[in-house]
This record gives sequence, structure tokens and C-alpha cells, in this order.
Amino acid sequence: MKELVIEKRVSRVKGELRVPSDKSISHRAVIIGALARGKTTVHDWLRSEDTLATLNMVRMLGVEVYDSGSVLEIEGKNYLFEEPTDILDARNSGTTARLMLGVLSTQPFFSALTGDESLRGRPMLRVVDPLRSMGATIDGREQGNKLPVAVRGGKLRGISFFNKKASAQVKSSILLAGIKAEGITEVVEPVMSRDHTEKMLSFFGAEIVSVPEEKGHIVKLRGGQELKGSEVYCPADPSSAAFFCALALLTEGGELVLRDVLVNPTRDGFYRKLRDMGAELSYENQREISGEPIADIVVRGSKRLKAVKVDAEEIPAMIDEIPVLAVVMALAEGKSSVRGARELRVKESDRIRAIVENLRAMGVKVDEYEDGFDIEGTDRLKGAHIKTFGDHRIAMAFTVAGLLADGRTIIDDVECVNISYPNFLRDIDSVVEYS
Ligand code: S3P
Repeated sequence: MKELVIEKRVSRVKGELRVPSDKSISHRAVIIGALARGKTTVHDWLRSEDTLATLNMVRMLGVEVYDSGSVLEIEGKNYLFEEPTDILDARNSGTTARLMLGVLSTQPFFSALTGDESLRGRPMLRVVDPLRSMGATIDGREQGNKLPVAVRGGKLRGISFFNKKASAQVKSSILLAGIKAEGITEVVEPVMSRDHTEKMLSFFGAEIVSVPEEKGHIVKLRGGQELKGSEVYCPADPSSAAFFCALALLTEGGELVLRDVLVNPTRDGFYRKLRDMGAELSYENQREISGEPIADIVVRGSKRLKAVKVDAEEIPAMIDEIPVLAVVMALAEGKSSVRGARELRVKESDRIRAIVENLRAMGVKVDEYEDGFDIEGTDRLKGAHIKTFGDHRIAMAFTVAGLLADGRTIIDDVECVNISYPNFLRDIDSVVEYS
């Protein structure tokens, strides 16, 4: 494990930055490109440990991918993969494991899928159960709840599924299986989760019905549709941009432009919340690429922000930004709270525990709840020894905190940022001034 020692304080953030491309969209571009008929070209693809796990996995299923460094060219197999000769490894990536379990369920062969220690501890029954009810044979540790699991797929039938946890990974897994199933597949959600799979499937020519419901949202598709290879441009990741946005807001006198950021309303809850806290933040030059809305986000260093509350319905649109939002809350005026976020306990780490422990180490008063926390804002963070638990978003959120704290902060394992943002520290250096 490589430590990061932070000894200087950031005084101002200034300039512009195009953060790496969206992780969710990069995974989907490879998976859907591999499933389509004909060639798919992907521009600005995120090259990180998680997305490389997906790329490696589709190659093991017989998909040819030419990687020139600037673009990926994928020879789509029209849902006809080859039986892999070895165990498929999703490494740290929940999205790879869960989406690919949906894909493997459509294939009439045997496959086995595993992951690293963190992923092997995360729940899989949420996808395994509905995929079994579509007709796939899946077995694994703890009745199929934990990796490794083995899949024998084949002929599937469409189902109607209530996605209680509003998980986009679960919805996507079922929809990717549903494209090859007999009849209609539908997923109903109490709150709409990120909709990149639906958007990309329709960009590849599928017919998808996506409509608001009285109490949530419904997505429907007909099985037997063919996907057509396409040209996809990936936008900048709002979850990566969030760290820079927080750093810019929490220092005075600067201005930062974050270029080409995905501003899909199922993903931009963090930015909307910051505005509620009094942040000076605007979306400029709004446009669309490959069916997704993007903008340049302009953020100005502000006076102290106000405390805010986040509740259950707001969580899906900011689920991955809660660690950095907690850091912003710690420096706001008044008591903030997050509730209805129990899902954070089964991410790359138990993120509620990680947030609470690390903020307390920095001198912040925090109360922990099963599904969230309360944070008493302060005007000073104390440098501390931060435990990342190998979780990239905890490492990056507390690097931001360390850069604003008095005294020295040590991040115990900085290399885990490679999961989603290999050049994170270099990009920080390109926009900050130290005091
Ligand atoms: C993701 C969905 C979310 C998110 C994860 C990526 C996706 O997980 O936390 O980082 O790409 O579909 P859940 O589906 O478990 O909410």
C-alpha cells in the first residue's frame, strides 16, 4: 500500500479541467458494443482498473477489441459469445460483475465469475434472483449471493421486476438479459436510478419504453431485438468532477471550469444539493453527446456554505458522491444529515463507517445511523491518518479534506484511486495553488 502525505494547504483553485470519462458509460459502451451486430467505435473511453476488467472480460468471451489508445474498436458478436476457457474476473468492479451476470445468463454455455476480496463480500442475489426467474441456472457461495458464481445460461423469458433498491446495476443486468428473452421484460423502480443502459440501448437502435409511474418509474423492452454497432463518445464523469468541484467551492477567490461533464438528472444530485447549500455553480454550454446531456460546469470559490439534509429519494442521483458531500457538509455552517442511504454499506467499502471514522479523526462531530449520519459543521478540519479501506472514492474525498485541513494528513492507500481515476493527483496539481 502506498501512502500519500499531505502537508500543504490549498488556498485557491483556478483554471479548467476535463476529468476522465464516465465510468458507468464506459462499462456500458464496451458491453453493449460487444453485444451488438457490427463494429462499435468508442471515443474518450475511460481507461481505469474497473473498466479494464470489463474489457478483459469481453475479450475472454471471444470479442475482438482493437485499442489504439485514443479509440476502441469493438467487433460486435450479436449476442453470440464463446465459452470462456477460464474464470472471469471482475476484480473490484460491481458494475462489471452484475451487468455481465445478465449477459452470461443469455449464453448457452458454462461460465464462472469472481472478483477481488471486496467484491467477493458484496451481495449478488439482487441480480441472481431475477436472472434465475428469467430461466438462467446460477449457483455460488451462500446460495448464489456471493462470488464466485457459476452460470449456465440459455433461453430466457421476460419478467416484470420491482427494483426496490433502485439499483442501476440490477436494472441494467435484467435489461441486457431481456433483449434476448422471450416476450416483454419490465423493471419498475420506486425512484429512477441512472438510465445509461436504457439510453445506450436506444442509441444502438433498440426500442425501449421509459415512463414515469405514479410511484416511481417503469422501463420496458421487447425481447428479440437486434442492437446495431454505433459510434459512441463518452462524457466526463460527474462523480470524478465532484472532488474538484468541492475543492473549488471550499477555497476562496478562485474559479474552475469542468469541461464536458455528464449532467444527466439521474446523476447530478450532488450538484443540485450544492446549490441548495448556497454554492455559486452553473451549467454552461449545455448540449448532447451520444444521447446523453453534458455541460461545462463553472464553479466559484464561495463563502461558507449552509448545512443541508438529504433523504431517501434523493440518494440514487448522488449515491457515489456521498463521501465527498460529507466532506463539504463537515465544512458547512450548521448540522447536515443524510438518511435512506443504507446501500452505502455494501459499496467498495462500508462507506458510512469510512465517512464517520475519518471525519471523526479530523475532529468533526458525527453521529452514525444504520442508513446515514448527522454532521456538525466546523470551520477547521484537523489533519489526520485516513483509512481508505481500499475504496477509491473514500481516498479521493479525504484527499480533498486533507488539502483543506490544518496540519498533516496521511492517506493510507492512495493507489486505489486507479479504480476510477488514475491521474487524480496530477490533475489536482494542475488546478490548485498552495498557501
Ligand atoms: C452503477 C450503479 C450504482 C453506483 C455504481 C455504478 C452503474 O450502483 O453506485 O458506482 O454503473 O450502474 P447500484 O446499482 O448498486 O446503486
